[in-house]
Amino acid sequence: MKQSSAHEAWGTRLGLILAMAGNAVGLGNFLRFPTQATNHGGGSFMITYFIALLLLGIPLMWIEWGLGRHGGRYRKGHIPGMFASVWRHPAAKYVGVLGLVIPFVVLTYYTCIESWTLAFTFFSITKDYWGLETQEAMIGYLRSFQSVGDPSMHGAFMPFVFFLATLSINIWIVSKGISGGIERLAKIGMPLLFLFALVLAIVVCTMPARPDIGATPADGFQFIYRPDLSGLKSPAVWLASAGQIFFTLSVGMGTLQTYASYLRSKDDILLSGLATSATNETAEVVLGGSIAIPAAVVFFGVTGATQIAASGAFNLGFATMPVVFQQLPFGHVLAFMWFGLLFFAGITSSVAMATPMMAFFREEFGLRREPVAWGLGAAVLLFGLFHIAWLDYGFLDEWDYWGGTFGLSLFAVAEVIIFMWIFKPENAWHTIHEGADIRLPGVFKFIMTYITPAYLFAIFLWWSISDALPILAMDKTPTGDPYAPEARPYIIIARLVILLLFAAFLILIRIAWKRNRYDDRAGFTEVEELASSSTTSTGLNL
Ligand code: TRP
Repeated sequence: MKQSSAHEAWGTRLGLILAMAGNAVGLGNFLRFPTQATNHGGGSFMITYFIALLLLGIPLMWIEWGLGRHGGRYRKGHIPGMFASVWRHPAAKYVGVLGLVIPFVVLTYYTCIESWTLAFTFFSITKDYWGLETQEAMIGYLRSFQSVGDPSMHGAFMPFVFFLATLSINIWIVSKGISGGIERLAKIGMPLLFLFALVLAIVVCTMPARPDIGATPADGFQFIYRPDLSGLKSPAVWLASAGQIFFTLSVGMGTLQTYASYLRSKDDILLSGLATSATNETAEVVLGGSIAIPAAVVFFGVTGATQIAASGAFNLGFATMPVVFQQLPFGHVLAFMWFGLLFFAGITSSVAMATPMMAFFREEFGLRREPVAWGLGAAVLLFGLFHIAWLDYGFLDEWDYWGGTFGLSLFAVAEVIIFMWIFKPENAWHTIHEGADIRLPGVFKFIMTYITPAYLFAIFLWWSISDALPILAMDKTPTGDPYAPEARPYIIIARLVILLLFAAFLILIRIAWKRNRYDDRAGFTEVEELASSSTTSTGLNL
């Protein structure tokens, strides 16, 4: 009977938390965090980072769980339906288009990056790049792999092969459903990920200083964690840390909500949401901060590590780390663990990005899981090919900017306004407390109603002025460089494709509402909870 219903359920609370943590813990924790922290002055970044965690991240996490579970009562696992369930207005569903297109956009390039981690897992255990012992040589190796135009070290088909493999694994898991696919993956992937990360953190933290550089892992920690107030004057630091909080907690995208829609009304949101955030932060600050940065600092000094981080988002993880591992005993096993860790972190996130679309097509068009999953896979394959073929023109960076950075903040602004203001603070507060094991101090109601939206709005505005407009006008790329003249046509295509996706999904939403004869003003009818829809209905079974 699980198969027949478009609405699924989590098996156990532990499985739910692991899956939620798997959603949040991703490449962002181990690659993006160290790079961002290093690029924005370490100690200053960490201060603004924790402020953003408290005022933006955790409140949004609760808001998204609340919104998601509320939607689940009406069997709505996608954002257009969720927005319509709290705001009875014809516009609500169309605003919700953000929650379909953004995860799809991010999914296409995220699986592409994830496929590099899978490839490097193989290249590590087979020692394929052994002997390329300098940073430059490894960057050359990475470039040769990524770009189809330069097959000097890899067959030109390589990126395609690994992309296809990665995508197929993802789609296969998604096609097995929430408890049968995603929850199972999390139960295997998350413990392995933590184990690998722990081993690597211990190895890195006990590395001796090298005679030529003289820096210890402790110098790396000092650099990140010594509080430094000097950077607080810089808006860039505030923006970057808020951006990182967004990205790492997976808020502002629509996937936590979909996961939460499979909760029941007697399930707790507050404690589970907090546990998810805490797991993610441990993986990010404790583990993510203890691998790449200290390792880079020991081998290249603080200045060297800073230069590497500034030289490109992937150089730290894909070039520096392999250089480091080649100098360590059992280096190929450690390198295998590093890329394996990245792969597990990636895949438990990418499957999440597929779920909003799955929910939309299954719930609104009555389709079965498998065809939707494989259809989605075909679409990701199509757009993924653009990312591979046009990587050098900045196609991926462009999608990452509009989808993965700007889009998230736009979505989050829309979401807090709808959930906290239109739905009303009292209703929101009541919704997130239903079934909760704890009660939040009242100050959080104030934070969630005023501070979080104001903070978000300020960031959104500042981002629009400082980045979005100049990028839109092609005055600078998302990475701050000038746009190369030959890249411009590709950038325009990249943007047009995103716009087309929006148009297509606005139409699909319209069709869905017509076909199901939804009445925007009346709202949806609440659906009885299926008490026995899965192995346990208490939600407390660990
Ligand atoms: N949190 C993920 C990471 O740290 C990235 C991410 C952002 C994400 N939004 C998401 C993952 C939505 C899954 C779903 O890498």
